[in-house]
Amino acid sequence: MAKDTLNIGLIGYKFMGTAHSNAYRQVAPFMGPALQPVMQVLCGRDAAGVSAAAAKMGWQECATDWREVIARDDIDLIDICTPSGPSHTEIALAAAQAGKHIFCEKPLAASLDDARAMLSAVQAAGVTHMVNFNYRRCPAVALAKKMIEAGELGEIYHWRSVYLQDWIIDPDFPLVWRLDKSIAGSGPLGDLAAHSIDLAHHLVGPIAAVSGMEQTFVKERPVAEAMGGLQATGGSARVPVTVEDAVAFLARFENGVFGTFEATRFAAGRKNCNRFEINGSKGSLVWNMETMNELEFYSRADEKAAVGSLAGFRLIQATDGSHPYAGHWWPPAHIIGYEHSFTHGVYDLLNAIAAGTPAEPDFLDGAKCQAVLEAVTRSIASSGWASVEAV
Ligand SMILES: NC(=O)c1ccc[n+]([C@@H]2O[C@H](COP(=O)([O-])OP(=O)(O)OC[C@H]3O[C@@H](n4cnc5c(N)ncnc54)[C@H](O)[C@@H]3O)[C@@H](O)[C@H]2O)c1
Repeated sequence: MAKDTLNIGLIGYKFMGTAHSNAYRQVAPFMGPALQPVMQVLCGRDAAGVSAAAAKMGWQECATDWREVIARDDIDLIDICTPSGPSHTEIALAAAQAGKHIFCEKPLAASLDDARAMLSAVQAAGVTHMVNFNYRRCPAVALAKKMIEAGELGEIYHWRSVYLQDWIIDPDFPLVWRLDKSIAGSGPLGDLAAHSIDLAHHLVGPIAAVSGMEQTFVKERPVAEAMGGLQATGGSARVPVTVEDAVAFLARFENGVFGTFEATRFAAGRKNCNRFEINGSKGSLVWNMETMNELEFYSRADEKAAVGSLAGFRLIQATDGSHPYAGHWWPPAHIIGYEHSFTHGVYDLLNAIAAGTPAEPDFLDGAKCQAVLEAVTRSIASSGWASVEAV
């Protein structure tokens, strides 16, 4: 009889490690995937920290060397929740070589070359691969995708996105790995705009060329002594910040859509304002992660009602059983949250592995996003437009 469980080895146990662990705990009872995830090994570098995290989140074992986890025959899937950049690449290449399925946090890599190498490795190994661009799986975003495919917006003219946070606005906030180019690859470009780029690719189409600008407001920060997620404590010595603090770029899409993107961690009061607006010939859609269950829809058809125009942005609450993913949870308007986007991703990944079908977004999507990130960097260096390389 075919195995109906999948043994997971998860590397990195802080912010995303916790979010992914929660998804593995929730997915079977609420969503009933075709394979049951078994939370086999949690891996982190600090033995005491990983042991405490494993006990808290319900992992059966813990380890301090990811290579040992990958070498185990009983591990089917490697879940990469380490800092972006070189560690994603190193772990993914080894996992693919060992024939493991891979679930990797975003952005896929620190460079397009690394992303291409990761894509080649998973393709050669024939394993299932997925990048965690989780916002695709908020029900309101998945509904937006269905509406666009059904022609509700007509011809699309504009993509307009911002991804705004404010957690490093204090100049004394320590230099965490997200502010170190050698680890993160870039600042809000790879951390935040990568999400917007993936949503734009998913909803509107591929980006052909970009023209960007960036700025670093705080040039030196205290060395970080302890960090995890968006929190840290620091010492007194200050070291240079090696990534941008804010980035913006114009984008031409292959299909002629006109796009703008902005990402910063210096927008006081904006905590996780991941927002897009799409304008088409028949109407507009607006979504903001801070009110994630809601999708604003303006239909020009409403302008022609018999009683006079009834046009205006209507607020669709994407919590109905007829909306993507929503029927797995609560009755309409009993809203869901950030963590559910991860559970939905794990659900789709487990089903794809069971069916032997590709998962999405996969490493090809991750590499296409990386090609845009790299084009933005090139355009900034040359103060002009840069074409997005084919992957
Ligand atoms: N999809 C999302 O919404 C989202 C949100 C936040 C972060 N992320 C991504 O998730 C990844 C992790 O970010 P985070 O916020 O969880 O970081 P974090 O700092 O909270 O946690 C990183 C973890 O990786 C561990 N780690 C680092 N190097 C390691 C190694 N060599 N071996 C084993 N463990 C190692 C650290 O000890 C820590 O446990 C990044 O790629 C980030 O961009 C995605």
